Amino acid sequence: MSHDKRSRSSKLADTLGSDVDFVLFGALGDLSQRKLYPALYQLDRENLLAESTRLLGVARQDFDTAGFRARVEASLKEYIKRDELDADVVERFLDRLDYRCVDATQVEGYASIRDWRQDAGDRPMVVYLAVGASLYGDICRHLEDSGSLDDSARVVVEKPIGHDLESSAEINDAIGAVFPESRIYRIDHYLGKETVQNLIALRFANPLFGTQWNQNHISHVEVTVAEKVGIEGRWGYFDQAGQLRDMVQNHLLQLICLIAMDPPANLDADAIRDEKVKVLKALKPFTDDMLGTDVVRGQYIAGTSDGKSVPGYLEEPDANTASHTETFVAMKTEVSNWRWAGVPFYLRTGKRMPEKLSQIVIHFRQQPHYIFDPDQRSLAANKLVIRLQPDEGIALQVLTKDSGLDKGMRLRPGPLHLDFNNAFAKTRIPDAYERLLLEVMKGQQYLFVRRDEVEHAWKWCDSLIEAWQERDEPPRRYPSGSWGPVASIAMISQDGRSWYEDY
Ligand code: BG6
Repeated sequence: MSHDKRSRSSKLADTLGSDVDFVLFGALGDLSQRKLYPALYQLDRENLLAESTRLLGVARQDFDTAGFRARVEASLKEYIKRDELDADVVERFLDRLDYRCVDATQVEGYASIRDWRQDAGDRPMVVYLAVGASLYGDICRHLEDSGSLDDSARVVVEKPIGHDLESSAEINDAIGAVFPESRIYRIDHYLGKETVQNLIALRFANPLFGTQWNQNHISHVEVTVAEKVGIEGRWGYFDQAGQLRDMVQNHLLQLICLIAMDPPANLDADAIRDEKVKVLKALKPFTDDMLGTDVVRGQYIAGTSDGKSVPGYLEEPDANTASHTETFVAMKTEVSNWRWAGVPFYLRTGKRMPEKLSQIVIHFRQQPHYIFDPDQRSLAANKLVIRLQPDEGIALQVLTKDSGLDKGMRLRPGPLHLDFNNAFAKTRIPDAYERLLLEVMKGQQYLFVRRDEVEHAWKWCDSLIEAWQERDEPPRRYPSGSWGPVASIAMISQDGRSWYEDY
């Protein structure tokens, strides 16, 4: 049955996005092509876009609407799987699109956006800023000055918001001068990932975990976000940022918040975000004496990826050969509160690792009294492995008796495994942007980052950046295709532990 013919009313009303006008700045940019159009197309295919929802692409290049639609169609063909491309839906989706050529820095061009909205009725406007943060202030101001906004307009902004606390406050002030916090949607796309949302369900819907989720029962927590890719031609941006700002300040800290937060009173956006902020405030700040023991910075050198030789960071196109920017960081931190006192959180993230892998491992404490073979004692601890990507799933490592008459009471570790791809075989796992765009349309903010979260995250990162700057040491080298500098293994083994390996 074609998607057109499928009854829209068959969808639950609360999953359907509301009817909105999207105004997308950066309409010809990489994020729009790779993520936003494919995500909106998928929502259309799932009949989750309201009938008259439409999108105005805005960029500097001179295009007409037909040329723009052709460009978007090409992106869909490139980024959507062949068997998910439905000609009827593609046509319906392209019909929603329009284009205006606007120089975002000059208020004059904004009249064309205001005019496009003339017949919008009470349809809310969603302004999506898929452009550099340095333009956020200008765009918000010009939208207001040109009379393009009304009281229902929402704005969606991407990370990075600034490069430290001070610069992020300036950007947030500029956006906040036009939009109230209740209509600002700061994206951290990790919050839209299916398994990340499942963390909330896992923790707060299962009494089993509710009672165990604290320092009495958990010995330590690991978070690994490894990427196989290098910096993918983004030297200009990445060399100013580094892995700490690019990945830890946002994605990894959001994961820590969801792991460590107290139960919110309900699922309201602010109830959840209040609890996340408490975690960020409780993160132990870095001091100079922790650099040698609790933090490892690395930079990749040439090596191999998928059996092919790849260049080092300093040989990437446009590289500055003296750069000390880190492409890897491992650290040990702590959430200093009653729930987590004394529980180390080990984090590591890097580019050019052997594979793409994002996972959280919760290590439970050993039994207080052990009665099995002494030589198997090191097995005796449960682990909860939450795999974000690839192969989304959750596995609880438990010990059972090994089967066979000759095995006595020998123990055997094995997973109780929930593999999302198998368990929900008929349900496509949506891309993070699909979920996030849907929530923006519905006006739900719980998957978006509030201003105080961004600022507390920066405050903590700034403590580390300052300590690094005082030391001024070059990062440790690691070959592309490895798991980072050997020092990151030493960092965790000094506590008698190792990074979980079951790749
Ligand atoms: C982005 C970073 O926020 O996240 C990129 O800027 C990184 O450097 C990307 O590659 C990783 O996202 P994902 O969803 O592929 O893990």
